[in-house]
Amino acid sequence: MIYASKAFLCTAMAKLVHDEGLLLDVATGGELFVALHAGVPADHCVLHGNNKSVDELRMAMTAGVRHIVVDSFDELARIESLVDEGLTAPRVQLRITPGVYVHTHEYISTGQDDSKFGFNLGNGDARRAAGIAGASKKMRFVGIHCHIGSNVFAVENFTHAARLMVDLANELGVEEVTFGGGLGVAYVGDERAPSITDWSRHLLDAASGLQKPTKVFVEPGRSIVASAAVTVYRVGTIKEIPGVRTYVSVDGGMSDNPRPVLYGSGYEAFVPTRTNSARTKPVRVVGKHCESGDILISETEVPADLVVGDLLVTPVTGAYGHSMGSNYNKVTRPPVVFVRSGGARLVVRRETFEDLVRADVAE
Ligand code: LLP
Repeated sequence: MIYASKAFLCTAMAKLVHDEGLLLDVATGGELFVALHAGVPADHCVLHGNNKSVDELRMAMTAGVRHIVVDSFDELARIESLVDEGLTAPRVQLRITPGVYVHTHEYISTGQDDSKFGFNLGNGDARRAAGIAGASKKMRFVGIHCHIGSNVFAVENFTHAARLMVDLANELGVEEVTFGGGLGVAYVGDERAPSITDWSRHLLDAASGLQKPTKVFVEPGRSIVASAAVTVYRVGTIKEIPGVRTYVSVDGGMSDNPRPVLYGSGYEAFVPTRTNSARTKPVRVVGKHCESGDILISETEVPADLVVGDLLVTPVTGAYGHSMGSNYNKVTRPPVVFVRSGGARLVVRRETFEDLVRADVAE
């Protein structure tokens, strides 16, 4: 299994993932840097990205990543020229766009023909790329890869793509297949998502069509970390607008969780000191940023006795919150604390105002 580190990455997370025996998907030089900084061996990292720069490819090949998931004809040429410079020919998988449409937000669906990712299966690009990679002395073509989208709930979308990949793997005779990540998670009370076990059972079933011994990988991000984390805010103001709604403002917002703004994602909220209180009061939970769109939860219920100063927690915020966070309005990023068996460990410290000017070049 490969962990898609874009979902959440810091030094401690890279170490944890490695200690648990997973490989790391890194999609940029920056993610690779963090993994290597954490002591993850390069050959436990897999390099992704639809526009890897020459410098990123050089970094990954020099370090010796396990394989590179190649996304374009330009990249095939870039790898060859780096081998001409004297670097070792890398192992490569080709990212295939299988033409599978998934039920998720359009910003995060990636398997359809109209996509910036991968080699199109339907128009012949995938086979052309396989021809080039297979004939090249400057790379070892070991496998194929697909990733059809993120936060996908329909298992049949995955099995559809997996069957297409299995057919292609049989045709090309490759030794490795990656079925991608993308498994959805339940964010709000009425959502139901397949478990990782269900998902893998379906994928294994599709993989049983492979004709020769083949290494099969998956690379989930969200389904590993999303429900492992909660975000703790403090309520700063409560504004009741009669006949309109009640706004509860907290000390964060779109800078620590841009997902509601970007994808219209829903969340729940509860008061951690009164977890069993009935949640009866309808409110909108908003952040402290200077725009009306800075909404964390458009409509939710909180305990009726919620007061300024209370803590308010949003669960299922472990994926794509911290990693997509920003310093908008120069709001400092919150710390990250790992907890286990009653113990707590600070793994990312709270940012300070000094951090906000660290990269500024003084006049
Ligand atoms: N593999 C590849 C090549 C990917 O591009 C991704 C996610 C994954 C694996 C992991 O997908 P997951 O299991 O986490 O769904 N920011 C968006 C999600 C973007 C996903 C990008 N790629 C969100 O917050 O919903």
